[in-house]
Amino acid sequence: MALPSLASRAIRGTPLLRAAAASSATVAGRVVGPPAAAAAARGLATPAAAPAAPGAPPKEMWRASNASRSYGGLRDEDRIFTNLYGDRDWALDGALKRGDWYRTKDLVHMGRDWIINGIKASGLRGRGGAGFPSGLKYSFMPKASDGRPSYLVVNADESEPGTCKDREIMRSDPHKLVEGCLVVGKGMGARAAYIYVRGEFIDERHRLEAAVAQAYEKGLIGKNASGSGYDFDVYVHYGAGAYICGEETALIESLEGKQGKPRLKPPFPANIGLYGCPTTVTNVETVAVVPTILRRGPDWFAGMGRKGNAGTKLFCISGHVNSPTTVEEEMSIPLRELIERHCGGVRGGWDNLLAIIPGGSSTPLLPQDVAEDVMMDFDALKEVGSGLGTAGVIVMDKSTDIVDAIARLSYFYKHESCGQCTPCREGTGWMWNILTRMTRGDAKLEEIDMLQEITKQVEGHTICALGEASAWPIQALIKNFRPEMERRIREYQPREEVGVAGQVSNVTTF
Ligand SMILES: Cc1cc2nc3c(=O)[nH]c(=O)nc-3n(C[C@H](O)[C@H](O)[C@H](O)COP(=O)(O)O)c2cc1C
Ligand code: SF4
Repeated sequence: MALPSLASRAIRGTPLLRAAAASSATVAGRVVGPPAAAAAARGLATPAAAPAAPGAPPKEMWRASNASRSYGGLRDEDRIFTNLYGDRDWALDGALKRGDWYRTKDLVHMGRDWIINGIKASGLRGRGGAGFPSGLKYSFMPKASDGRPSYLVVNADESEPGTCKDREIMRSDPHKLVEGCLVVGKGMGARAAYIYVRGEFIDERHRLEAAVAQAYEKGLIGKNASGSGYDFDVYVHYGAGAYICGEETALIESLEGKQGKPRLKPPFPANIGLYGCPTTVTNVETVAVVPTILRRGPDWFAGMGRKGNAGTKLFCISGHVNSPTTVEEEMSIPLRELIERHCGGVRGGWDNLLAIIPGGSSTPLLPQDVAEDVMMDFDALKEVGSGLGTAGVIVMDKSTDIVDAIARLSYFYKHESCGQCTPCREGTGWMWNILTRMTRGDAKLEEIDMLQEITKQVEGHTICALGEASAWPIQALIKNFRPEMERRIREYQPREEVGVAGQVSNVTTF
């Protein structure tokens, strides 16, 4: 499936110092490495475990699948983003040395079907949050033009709290994205790519614009891009810093110069998107990995991660860990291993862990016992009622006021609601109000159920998924920390305050 004679040409990643150091790190007194078979070559099967019984709870199923094959401990030669930490030249010369733009003309010449089939065979799923199969999504673009041009729109809005991966690509490896635009654009029959960059990313967009200019200057994009005979332009567009503009149809509206408010679907962007033309909106990371996948061959990518969860992934780990980082790892790596191998573990040790948000702020939190075993992929996290989302992992140790933390996220969603749908516009405010009181305990016990009911009235009743994003963190809070919420309410004592007339009164503040 790989381009003939290209598959054997590895994208040569010389060892990343950071990864090498981490691979032998000692954390909290124990040596951390790939489970069971630290020195074994990746993919070497350890003795097979007995298959989990049908209907077995997820934990048993992961244990069974993880016992027959360990995930994580990505080898340097399997890394796609070999300049993630910006310790080498980000510009064209450095990119060429790292294998970018290598025989891009041949990739383009292989044609639309070859590109799309390659992406499908690799098992790549979108890195923007929903994890939809990318090859299938790209195949929805019209095969023949009805006179309208088709567009690729790259989503570089990256505003989900806890997420910091696309900015690293734009800052340190921008040519991967620019080359990806050409190859993915050809796969869709697109005339041009628009990269919509979050307003606050000043340095990143300057780098990206410089990379685009370098690519134009060398004839890699533009007329007869890379000598392929295909004309393809790339435009960089600045957002103004609204989270909702990351939603694909709001992004299109914003690109068109209107307020960033999501559109009702259908029609879907592949039929009527940017300027009324067929459009696909897709994430920076999704696009940036495609040229490497096609050069090395889809089987190489599909060979990493569990079935249906292929490849490598950028994980962003923040919060109460010893060394927060963004790191490329194999999909399906156990969450605990991800944290201990790359972040020096949870602050104060694993037993000091309270909860983890695994995929950006909108994904439901996991309590410690679930975080202990879960694997970092789309399906495993779905099975425990959460999601991989953007792979923005937020770690909270026992010093966290968990009700306050979720109340703060509630405020974010209330603030970012575009206000079009009543359940979202009103519900996000109500949820934030109630949770803010509950942080102090200033609520009635029945209000916990009422709060749950509001989340259910918002979820599934809005134009875009910001509704769900605002509801899910609260549902997970109630599910996992209800006793803590009840304790606060029971123990709440109204503050003794001195009123204006100098009298002492019980004032319930809000
Ligand atoms: C409120 C909201 C914000 C979003 N923000 C982003 C974002 O910043 N970046 C992104 O790639 N996708 C974001 N998405 C998802 C996009 O709508 C879209 O699904 C994604 O860009 C598709 O890319 P993919 O197929 O490569 O995953 C957001 C969705 C919603 C509902
Ligand atoms: S769900 Fe919220 S953010 Fe999305 S369209 Fe409706 S009001 Fe706007």
